[in-house]
Amino acid sequence: MPKSQTPETLAFTDGKLVLIDQTRLPQELVTLTCSTVEETHDAIQRLVVRGAPAIGIAAAYGVCLAAAPSPPTRQDFLNAAEHLATSRPTAVNLFWALDRMKGVIEATTDDSALYQKLIQEAITIHDEDREMCKNIGRHGATLLKDTKCVLTHCNAGGLATSMWGTALAPIYHCHQQGQAIEVFADETRPLLQGGRLTAWELSQAGIPVTVLTDSMAGSLLRSGKIDAVIVGADRIAANGDAANKIGTYPLAVLARYHSVPFYVAAPSSTFDLALADGDGIPIEERKRDEVAAPQGICIVPAAAKVMNPAFDVTPADLIDCIITERGLIPKPDRIAVTTHLS
Ligand code: MRU
Repeated sequence: MPKSQTPETLAFTDGKLVLIDQTRLPQELVTLTCSTVEETHDAIQRLVVRGAPAIGIAAAYGVCLAAAPSPPTRQDFLNAAEHLATSRPTAVNLFWALDRMKGVIEATTDDSALYQKLIQEAITIHDEDREMCKNIGRHGATLLKDTKCVLTHCNAGGLATSMWGTALAPIYHCHQQGQAIEVFADETRPLLQGGRLTAWELSQAGIPVTVLTDSMAGSLLRSGKIDAVIVGADRIAANGDAANKIGTYPLAVLARYHSVPFYVAAPSSTFDLALADGDGIPIEERKRDEVAAPQGICIVPAAAKVMNPAFDVTPADLIDCIITERGLIPKPDRIAVTTHLS
């Protein structure tokens, strides 16, 4: 969200974590302030703050909130990190950021310096994310040189990161360079991150955006209008299999069938090299009512069961290229991924 008057997705101000409340967009642009670890945990779980990199940054600041309301011990900070790790299971950026915070706790012998060191580490994680997004934008834009129309799913933009995003960063980059580029955004059932958030932030930036229901993507791709599909990721295994918002996998299948390139954009903090392939990625199952009673209106009979996995896994062989802050991984596989990250 490159507009300067828009509040930052997250900010640490006066010892508190201030978040754009993404559950309220696009109806209203309001912030929510977290003063405690528990409030941060709740904000992550309720998707007030969401998107893999943003969850990691929020959790890093959340650890610092163990300082409220009384002077904390090292154990309080460690407990905060353990608790925040239970907020959501799929995005590995959460665990990556918390491991960095735990590293600082373990390495600091002077207890009186610990709070400041933790704040500094959280700020560094936040700053590094800005830099990573900018570089993903730069590298990804080389793939979109001749692209007019891009299809995306969920929200992997400035609202999902510190700024610029991952999947949307190359689009912002092209737009800034004066390239005419248009975005088609799947609405992304059940929580509508595409319709509510991607469409909102692209409109703010003056980039033309068209929202479609998820089931329209097939005929849109068949029409020949889409030049490329680009999405983010929550966790990428060592062989390049990538977990992202539910509905990403069918989009990759459709893109391959229609010979449209399918790109995944993610920082190196989204890779989990401990997992050989995508089968080991934990997939979050969310509450029934997100599907059965959107906005409190019951649309499914009480007797019916409901499925609500928040993510799916796209096999690496359906991904034409992974874009990271370091560059491009064309035709990702185990060797290409490990070479790129080493
Ligand atoms: O459930 P969400 O809204 O946190 O899911 C977000 C996504 O699936 C994003 O595509 C992913 O985290 C990448 S964000 C740069």
